This record gives sequence, structure tokens and C-alpha cells, in this order.
Amino acid sequence: MGDEYLLDTPTVRDFIRDVRGAIADAASPAAACDAIRPRFAELLADPDWLPAEFQEPNPDSGMGGGIGQWLLFRGADRELTLFALIVPPGSATPIHDHLAWGLVGLYRGTQDEEIYNERVERIEQRALVPGDFYVLLPPRDDIHRVRTTSAETSVSIHLLTNDTGCVWRHAYDEASGEAAAFRSGYVNVDCDD
Ligand SMILES: [Fe+2]
Repeated sequence: MGDEYLLDTPTVRDFIRDVRGAIADAASPAAACDAIRPRFAELLADPDWLPAEFQEPNPDSGMGGGIGQWLLFRGADRELTLFALIVPPGSATPIHDHLAWGLVGLYRGTQDEEIYNERVERIEQRALVPGDFYVLLPPRDDIHRVRTTSAETSVSIHLLTNDTGCVWRHAYDEASGEAAAFRSGYVNVDCDD
């Protein structure tokens, strides 16, 4: 299968082209993230590019709480994805990892993000407003949980260097710190197996 544009618009195609250029030219994931920052900020600031149909919650969510993960773009090699994560008011994700580097930013609503270390101890908590974004460079800051704090659904945009919805990763029990195999899936695309 080739590149998949689930949301096939000039905005998404131009963004992915620029991201691929930045990755190709960068000496490291950290340098690539730095180079992508301005374009990612631009995407978060553009109110018009993400259709309402990609901002709908998912009652059958693999993450619970009506959380929807909408795939927007997936590269042929499955090493780059762009997706929207929809978290209804009051809902929270499980504590989870991503197993890939990339950028995550808030597009709509507000969220609290709690960050955990590898022993599943909470090491940081931050409040996010639209336009805020952060870099994931595993193992640093790879384990977290987000909770919507606004009365409206929150929408965050993820640019990650794996097929995040379909890879098997981990969800963690806060009390015991135990990891369980976790696959979040996408609302609009089935995983292969
Ligand atoms: Fe996450």
C-alpha cells in the first residue's frame, strides 16, 4: 500500500511534504522536531483545516471514555502518521506510551497532561491550551495521560514516527505500575491483523 491520505487536502499534503523534508535533512530526531516546530505551530493555529467529521468521539473506543483516534495520514512505510485524538469532556486516556518520537499539540479545548517516569511515578503535570505542543523523544517523556478539562471535547494533533494506532504499545496501571499490552486502534481505519 502507498501513502494513505484519509484527509486528502492541500494543507495536509503540504504539511507532510515539509515534515518529510525536515526529517530527511535532520541529523537526529531532536533536530527534526526542532525543524518541524514552526510548521506544527502553523497547523495548530489554522482553524479551518480539520473537518468536523474528524473531531467526533468514538463510542466504541479501545481507550474507553468515548475517545476517538482519527487517522489523517499514514506513510507507506508506516513510519510517519498524523492523527487527531478526540477526548470528550471529563474523559481521560489510560496512562500510556507511544514508542516513537514526534510532536503532540492541542488544537481545541483544554487538557491536563500528567507525565510519568519508567517506574510509573508521576513526575510532572501541566495544563494545556490550544496552540500548546510538546515533543516526544522516547524514552524521555514517553509515558503520560491526558484528561480533558474543558466543557467542550478536546482535540489534539499527533505527528508520530510509527503507526501509533496499530502498533502494540503499553497501558499502565497507576496503582501497581504494571504494564499491559495496549493497541488503541483508529476510528476510521482497521489494523491489519
Ligand atoms: Fe499520548
